[in-house]
Amino acid sequence: MTVLVTGGAGYIGSHTCLELLQAGKDVLVLDNFANSSAESLKRVQELAGKELKFVEGDIRDRALLDSLFSENDIESVVHFAGLKAVGESTEIPLDYFDNNVSGTVTLLQAMKAAQVFRFVFSSSATVYGDPHTVPILESFPLSVTNPYGRTKLMVEDVCRDLAASDERWSIALLRYFNPAGAHPSGRIGEQPNGIPNNLVPYITQVAIGQREALNVFGDDYDTPDGTGVRDYLHVVDLAIGHLCALQKVSKQTGCVAYNLGTGTGYSVLDMVKAFEKASGKAIAYNITARRPGDIACCYADPTFAEAELGWKAEKTLDQMMADSWRWQSQNPNGFAPS
Ligand code: NAD
Ligand code: WQD
Repeated sequence: MTVLVTGGAGYIGSHTCLELLQAGKDVLVLDNFANSSAESLKRVQELAGKELKFVEGDIRDRALLDSLFSENDIESVVHFAGLKAVGESTEIPLDYFDNNVSGTVTLLQAMKAAQVFRFVFSSSATVYGDPHTVPILESFPLSVTNPYGRTKLMVEDVCRDLAASDERWSIALLRYFNPAGAHPSGRIGEQPNGIPNNLVPYITQVAIGQREALNVFGDDYDTPDGTGVRDYLHVVDLAIGHLCALQKVSKQTGCVAYNLGTGTGYSVLDMVKAFEKASGKAIAYNITARRPGDIACCYADPTFAEAELGWKAEKTLDQMMADSWRWQSQNPNGFAPS
C-alpha cells in the first residue's frame, strides 16, 4: 500500500518521505517543483537506500490525479503541496486561493472518486491568529490576518464539513508551529527562494556571509527580552509526527486537529545565541521596527498530540541549530550545484 505525498520534494515533505521510506512504506510523490527541485528526492532515496516513485505535476490537475489513483494502490494522502509565503500572499492572493484551496478541493474530489479517505493536512499555528493566552490549545478560537492563513483555515473548514458529510473520511489537521533545522546528515534541508522570510534560514545565511546582518523585528514586545517568542520545532520531529498521524487516521474516522510544537517558546535573541553556540559563528544583528502582522508570543500546548498520536518532539534547540548549520555550510546554494 502506498502513501501519496503531495509537495514531497519540499522542505517538510522531503524529511517526511525519508521517515516514511525508513518505516517501510511505499511512497509516491506528486510535486510541480514550484518551490523545490528533484535533487531533494534523489538525496532522500540515497539516505533511505530505497526508491520512491515520483511524478512531476500539479495537484490542480484532476486528470493526472485520477490516473495516479487508478494506477497506484494508494491508501492515504499526506498533503504538503501549496504556497507558503505570508507576505507574497498579500500581493497575489488569487494564486494562494487557487493553489492552496482549489488545489486541495480538487485533490479531495479525486480521493473521493477513488474511495481513498485517509488524509493528513499541513495546517499551521497561523490559524490561531493573535492568541489571548499561551500555551495554545486546539480548542482556542480560530482567526487569521492574511490570505495565506485564510487558505489554511478555509481548507480546515472544508475538511470539517467533508468529514461531517460522510463518516468514511479520516482527516488529521496538523497545526505546525515553527519548523526549523534539517536532517542531521546535512543532505536535505530548507532552500528558501530569495531573501528568507523565516528567522532560522536568515540567521544561517548571515553565518555563511550571504547576508550582512539579521534584522531583529522589534525589541519592544511584552516578552522577557522584548523580541518575539515562537515554538521552534525540529523538522525531523515534525516529519515523524506525520507517521503518527497516518497511524491515527488508519484507526479512527472524523476530522481532528493536533498541535505539533514543543511547548517551549524561544525569543529571537535566544535563537541567535543558540545558533552562535552551535556554529561558533558570531551573528551580526540590528534591532529594527516590528514586522507588520507579527505577534508577540506563540507556543503550543502539545499534550493532545502526545495523548492521541503518541507523538512528542524529542530534539533540542542545540540539535536544531547544529543541524541547520551543517545543512547551510555544506550546501551554500541549497540543492543547486555549487
Ligand atoms: P515547501 O515550499 O518547501 O514545500 C511545498 C512543496 O509543494 C514544494 O515542493 C512545491 O514545489 C510544491 N507545490 C506547491 N504548489 C504545488 C501544486 N500546485 N502542485 C504540486 N506541488 C506543489 O514548503 P514546506 O515548508 O515544506 O511546507 C509544506 C506545507 O506545510 C505547506 O502546505 C505549508 O503551508 C505548510 N506549513 C509550513 C510551515 C513552515 O514554516 N515551513 C509552517 C506551517 C505550515
Ligand atoms: C519568527 C520570529 C519574527 C525573520 C511564519 C508564518 C507562519 C508559519 C511559520 C507557515 C518572529 C522574527 C524573523 C527575521 C526576525 N508558516 N524575525 N527577523 O512569523 O512566527 O511564522 O512562519 O505556515 O504562518 O507567519 O516565523 O520565522 O518569520 O519569525 O526578527 O529576519 O523571528 O519577528 O518573532 P513566524 P518567522
